Amino acid sequence: MPQDNVITIDGPAASGKSTIAQKVADKLGGFYISTGNMYRAITLHAMNSNIDLSSDIFPDRIDKILEKLDLSYSKNADGKLSLMMNGKTADSAIRSPEVAKHVSKIASMENVRAWLIGRQRELASLGTIVMEGRDIGTVIFPDAKYKFFLTASPEVRARRRLAQSGETPEGATVASVAGEIAARDEMDIKRTIAPLKKADDAIFIDSSDMNVEEVVGLIVAHIKGS
Ligand code: CDP
Repeated sequence: MPQDNVITIDGPAASGKSTIAQKVADKLGGFYISTGNMYRAITLHAMNSNIDLSSDIFPDRIDKILEKLDLSYSKNADGKLSLMMNGKTADSAIRSPEVAKHVSKIASMENVRAWLIGRQRELASLGTIVMEGRDIGTVIFPDAKYKFFLTASPEVRARRRLAQSGETPEGATVASVAGEIAARDEMDIKRTIAPLKKADDAIFIDSSDMNVEEVVGLIVAHIKGS
């Protein structure tokens, strides 16, 4: 039986998944969940625990710090979900360029993904969820009824990321941002566990020449029409 309360949106870095997923969730009266922010929160927690992420990371050190991390979502008064790290709302630090630089290395670790899989799956008990990431349609919810794979050209993605304040370093250019996201995509595509990949049954959307409302309209029409 397909899981008809779950909508999955996967795709490469800065493809617009979070903006689109939030709006689709609003239209359907469901919850928006960014799994990238969960990997980013673990990355920030590792940095705050003085783990040097620029050299080899020992899995048992990560196991140790995961024991000290309580990662969950709580419902706000406005009905949206907030990611909580040890009882506090995760702030913009998880979206910093420094975290972005290291997150794909953390996300390639088997123990990190194993730690998150149950936490991500259990969110389906909330009701309708729109979950975005890299492996949501392939690994987390392979039985989801509605799956989308969202992409855009590298240049469009770099421009979109540059427009998001605080997510790129001072002095960043389209070329430097394109380089950063290409490096992250390469790691995400090439890793052995849960790589970035379109699920066979996902609908492919290239949003290079589409605005936000067009993409949201396409996804919602598909869900309502099926
Ligand atoms: O927003 P952006 O496209 O930059 O990335 P994100 O969705 O915040 O994800 C950050 C990183 O987390 C990705 O580059 C992946 O390395 C990792 N990730 C993952 O491995 N699996 C997911 N389901 C979601 C994110």
